[in-house]
Amino acid sequence: MSQSAAHESPAREASAPPADPAHPHTTGQSAEHAKPAEPAEPAEGETPDAPTVDFAGTTPYEDYVQADVLTHLQRPLSDDPGEMVFLVTTQVMELWFTVIVHEWETAAAALRRDDIPVAIAALKRSVRELEALNASWRPLGQLTPAQFNSYRDALGEGSGFQSAMYRRMEFLLGDKSASMLVPHRGAPRVHAELERALAAPSLYDEVLALLARRGRAVPEDVLNRDPAQRYEPDEGVEAVWSEIYRDPDRDEELVRLGEALTDVAELVWRWRNDHLVATRRAMGAKTGTGGSAGVAWLEKRARRNVFPELWTARSHV
Ligand code: HEM
Repeated sequence: MSQSAAHESPAREASAPPADPAHPHTTGQSAEHAKPAEPAEPAEGETPDAPTVDFAGTTPYEDYVQADVLTHLQRPLSDDPGEMVFLVTTQVMELWFTVIVHEWETAAAALRRDDIPVAIAALKRSVRELEALNASWRPLGQLTPAQFNSYRDALGEGSGFQSAMYRRMEFLLGDKSASMLVPHRGAPRVHAELERALAAPSLYDEVLALLARRGRAVPEDVLNRDPAQRYEPDEGVEAVWSEIYRDPDRDEELVRLGEALTDVAELVWRWRNDHLVATRRAMGAKTGTGGSAGVAWLEKRARRNVFPELWTARSHV
């Protein structure tokens, strides 16, 4: 039942003849017998079941969501009408990066205290979020070079390569690199956050430490590695995952953890490839605004495996 029908007064229903739908302000009676006009419908927001409209200051929604801030952060650099969606898609992706970093940090902390269910729940949330992130390529996936050129020059040297939150995602995956901090030297808060993320064990480091605590033969040098260095694939770790997958009944929770991590790895790989294809469509083999070789550089980056042994172990199961 609609809101207005639900709260129509029965007395009014009995006394008022049906209104002419073509003339909503007449009652269907001739002019000389017309009764005094019905009181006007209460304005939206004044009926008893309507949402509250009276707030002393800003709305509680605004206080929570900061929509006013969020929707006034768009400063296109050109007059091209197509730039808005490029800018907003980039901002939307930054927000998803932020949520995903939060989930992976939650998962890493849970693993540190041997709480696998909480870790898996956070990883699974991040899988849905990665799907939403990847779906946000849709508005940019088919840019022609002419469309992209309409605002490309205005971007100057700006490039996603300078995204600190994307870098935090990579660090959590084990793809550490101190040189990736260099572009952020001029932004103290961002730099400090990245520095902490570089030095901290990655999500994958926490996974491997947990496997060792569960009695798996993770090599000592992997467990004691410098967490600020990029994680390199290791045969001993590959053997551990092979064993886990070969005998799933021994510790089924570890298989579920492995599969949640594999879902994450696959979707990160998909993001990189969607980005690569969108870039190839929009600018061919030209150099990037960030100064790289463009597509050739991104191709190399997209080939990197996330959680490498979770993929190679499958050949031995
Ligand atoms: C179709 C539009 C886009 C094109 C043509 C494009 C192009 C490029 C290119 C050429 C690079 C290599 C670095 C450089 O020289 O600039 C790059 C890197 C990057 N872009 Fe984009 N990009 C696009 C959209 C986006 C969007 C919407 C995001 C979202 C944040 C993004 C995030 C990134 C990131 C994170 C990197 C660094 C990748 C890495 O370090 O491996 N890009 N992009």
